[in-house]
Amino acid sequence: MEFINHIFNEDVLSGIDKISDNSLDLIIADPPYCLGKDYGNDSDKMEPNKYLKWSYQWIDSVLPKLKDTGSLYIFLTWRYSPEIFSHIKTKMKMINEIIWDRRVPSMGGSTRSFSSVHDTIGFFVKSKNYYFDLDSIRIPYDEETKKARTRSIFVGKKWLEVGYNPKDLWSVSRLHKQDPERQEHPTQKPLEIIDRMILASSPKKGFVLDPFMGSGTTALSCIKNDRDYIGFELNIDYCKLIKTRIDNFKIMQDDLKSQQVLNLEVS
Ligand SMILES: C[S@@+](CC[C@H](N)C(=O)[O-])C[C@H]1O[C@@H](n2cnc3c(N)ncnc32)[C@H](O)[C@@H]1O
Repeated sequence: MEFINHIFNEDVLSGIDKISDNSLDLIIADPPYCLGKDYGNDSDKMEPNKYLKWSYQWIDSVLPKLKDTGSLYIFLTWRYSPEIFSHIKTKMKMINEIIWDRRVPSMGGSTRSFSSVHDTIGFFVKSKNYYFDLDSIRIPYDEETKKARTRSIFVGKKWLEVGYNPKDLWSVSRLHKQDPERQEHPTQKPLEIIDRMILASSPKKGFVLDPFMGSGTTALSCIKNDRDYIGFELNIDYCKLIKTRIDNFKIMQDDLKSQQVLNLEVS
């Protein structure tokens, strides 16, 4: 594959044919939500009907690129997920609806509705032979739970040692301004969430597409977890931001490696 580990400053619809059919292990798509956000372009400012039409169009263009064992995660809001999930269900099998609880604090909020504090994530697969590695994303039990399970019937139980399934309600704080991970992008997703998708749904050295790279969280997670990536992003400033983010991450990784070598030599 010619364009491995590359992000194109291009509309995904015009660039998608740079990717061969049946070549991807995973697609992580975090498209504009039709909320009027400013991404330095009009992509989040479409009329609802146009937004749905556009959503079906890009979805139909990316799906043939997935291998038979491949999966798709798509971030949406409750507002348009019913229509978009129904569309994808005509082409793929839906495995989960994951609720991302952004851990929004209880302050003020709507007065004529319940405050919305979650994103909706659809997890779809192309066939029943889809790749899924639960062990790589299990959550360790805390010490208190482990202690409570010291009765003889629990001793040696594998599930207690290996940790639990993260379930379909993911409570992960959104990134605050002061968070060290935070970049200059209005809807950057936490690395913890993208890591979980990549580890569970792509093999080591697998090939991952993010059609809407934003601040490059998917690319970073791929580098961190030894996967290859490809992506698209309309805004040139975000593409520059991604490059700096990746460069800094690689410097940090190299520093960590040389520190480890040093520690080994000393011990
Ligand atoms: C919700 S954000 C993605 C955020 C990303 N997941 C992150 O963690 O930073 C959507 C991004 O898609 C970009 N975008 C919108 N329409 C696009 C298109 N047709 N092709 C490529 N990128 C597009 C926007 O500029 C925006 O940065």
